[in-house]
This record gives sequence, C-alpha cells and structure tokens, in this order.
Amino acid sequence: MNPKKAAAEKAVENIREGMIIGLGTGSTAFWAIQKIGELVRAGLDIKAVATSIQSENLARELGIPILAFSDVVSVDLTIDGADEVDRQGNLIKGGGGALLREKIIAYNSKAFHVIVDHKKMVEQLGKFPLPVEIIPFAHELTLKRLRELAATVVLRKTEDKIFITDNGNMIADGNFYPVSDPASLDARLKSIPGVAETGLFLRHMVTTITVSDDHGNINTIRIAP
Ligand code: 5RP
Repeated sequence: MNPKKAAAEKAVENIREGMIIGLGTGSTAFWAIQKIGELVRAGLDIKAVATSIQSENLARELGIPILAFSDVVSVDLTIDGADEVDRQGNLIKGGGGALLREKIIAYNSKAFHVIVDHKKMVEQLGKFPLPVEIIPFAHELTLKRLRELAATVVLRKTEDKIFITDNGNMIADGNFYPVSDPASLDARLKSIPGVAETGLFLRHMVTTITVSDDHGNINTIRIAP
C-alpha cells in the first residue's frame, strides 16, 4: 500500500456535500485530488480552490470545479502534504515551492488536514531545509539578512535556472536546524523586508495530521480543537 495514497484517501473522508475544498500541492496531495476527482465524477457536489497551478491543472483534468480566489470568502476544508511534522504539529512546507498559496489557503480554511507518510514525522523541525519565499527585488540583500540567521541559505534553482514560484517570487532554502521555537523563527524571518512568506506552518493552523506507514496503518492525530 502506498502510504501517501492511504493517508490522502483517509483525509478525503472528511469531505461533505456542498463544501469548498482547498487542494494541496505535491505527491501526497496528488492522491487526495485523484480521490476527490473520483467522488466528483460519482456525483459529489463540491467546489475547489488550488494551492498551485499544477494542482489546478490536475483538478481541471479530473473534472473538479475550480473557483477563482476572488470568488472565495472562506474554505471549508483543505487537504495538503508537508515536508516535516514535529510532535506538537508544527510543519515545514514548501518543498514543492507552493508555500505562499498553501499558507493563504490553509489560513482561510475552517479545517486544515495534513497528510504525510511516517517518514515526515520528526522530533525537531529543520533537517528538511526551510523554504522561504522572497520577492525578486533586491533578493541579494534579503539573502544576506537570511544568511545571518541560518547555517546555510541556498537560492533554489532547477537545472541552473533560478526557481520562480507561481507568484513570480524566488525561494531561499535555509538550514535552521534545530528549529526549537518555530513561532519565534517564523516571526523573525517575516520581519525581514523582502520575505513574502515562510514554510513554517504553526500548529494552531492545523486541524489533524493523518500519518500512514508502509503497512497501511493509518493514524489521525488531532491538533487543533
Ligand atoms: C509543496 C508542499 C508539499 O506539501 C510538500 O513539499 C510535501 O510534498 P510531497 O507530498 O510531494 O512529499 O509543501 O509546496
């Protein structure tokens, strides 16, 4: 059993008729979108907003009705993956570069369900480099200020080209391990002009974390009431 698929399908069980659903990004969210597409084709009446162009394209291919952000007041439920999850339920996200839209959607969701395989669970965040979305203007200065706080900071590239997000920004991947106080680090990073958003998703945003192992065992941990 694919653990990502198992966790995704479990979280999809929270979806109800008439809801507005936030669609995550990445290889775990992929399975949630597939399952939602299946349910829509079987008659489930929902609408969705996507956290990336990639997820929006996939959803459209599967026949999931997509709303423009300007038409959304609030989202009933969002299902998304994560790169790391600590014991308290804080997350690192943004490995796929969609962290800004993911955070906007998660923040505006009544429920935020995180889906991961067991390898994403960690004692302390930060072995996965923390993605920080930065605006291109004067990004060299922003990188300098970030480098004062991290062991290393690397401007994300794909095949020698600077990676550009769906929002036209860049990503700086920083080594902040161990992240002992995610809320303070998040606030400190966001105080730097030029930082658009960080990949730290604090526990108060998270409703549940569904974790699946390679044997198909699924555990849903409740974080927020
Ligand atoms: C994308 C994300 C993803 O949710 C995160 O990178 C996990 O991806 P995957 O499910 O492929 O491991 O934050 O920006």
